[in-house]
Amino acid sequence: MTKKFLKFLRNSLSRREDRKLNALKTFGHWLFPNYRFSWPQLDWWDDPEFNEYLRKFEEPDGFNTHRKWMLLQLLRLTSCVPGDTAECGVFRGASSWLICAANRSNKNYARVHHLFDSFEGLSEPSVLDGAHWAKGNLAVGEDLVRRNLENFGNIQVHKGWIPERFANCENIRFSFVHIDVDLYEPTRDSIEFFYDRINQGGILLCDDYGFTTCPGATKAIDEFLEGKPEKMVALDAGSGFLIKGISTATKDIGIGQYL
Ligand SMILES: C[S@@+](CC[C@H](N)C(=O)[O-])C[C@H]1O[C@@H](n2cnc3c(N)ncnc32)[C@H](O)[C@@H]1O
Repeated sequence: MTKKFLKFLRNSLSRREDRKLNALKTFGHWLFPNYRFSWPQLDWWDDPEFNEYLRKFEEPDGFNTHRKWMLLQLLRLTSCVPGDTAECGVFRGASSWLICAANRSNKNYARVHHLFDSFEGLSEPSVLDGAHWAKGNLAVGEDLVRRNLENFGNIQVHKGWIPERFANCENIRFSFVHIDVDLYEPTRDSIEFFYDRINQGGILLCDDYGFTTCPGATKAIDEFLEGKPEKMVALDAGSGFLIKGISTATKDIGIGQYL
């Protein structure tokens, strides 16, 4: 009897969940016709440690959670690739925190994580960057980043305008590089410097890839990869990555011809 009642209650609640989701979708389409909802039944949405991490960086229900989850998954792919890690464009250190956590738990290598940022926000956008960004946006002090990463020992902070401080890492090999500077020029300079220094099987992830707010960043990456075997794999929630040494078909494989 109790079991039957519990089953009935569970079914009713899950039906209510569906109804709430449908109401949200209907209201959402009215407000924002092109918006695409995704299924909420994802186990990582309730992952306690990941949610604690999001709260630490004040992002529990923000717009960046999917990409942060993806970053964590991609780091796992490079656990057996030798080399240091780097982030170009650090802001408050949320992505670097995940990279440092992966480095710390890696039993194969003692990696150093290199952080590159002006700590004065974005550089001057070029005509290729559209109208979304302005010089000085997203400025965060180095002190805050150092505090946010204080649990991790193996970090090197390279303060300055990209590419000024890349020379510090001239002779270093990398397993994972995260580029997140929003604009054409620093994205181009970053991929130009790091591509040859990433080991076979290592990953280059660009957070801004595919965002219509960051047309310059997407262009810089695509231009650089012309003629290279690797191409960016674009992720559904924004951002894209390549695996060094893995040949990839071009973006447009022409699905239109089969429609
Ligand atoms: C979107 S934020 C980075 C977000 C960070 N990766 C995260 O996951 O939270 C962009 C960062 O790029 C830095 N930046 C932009 N242009 C730069 C340049 N030319 N040189 C150095 N840093 C730059 C900004 O200071 C800012 O911290």
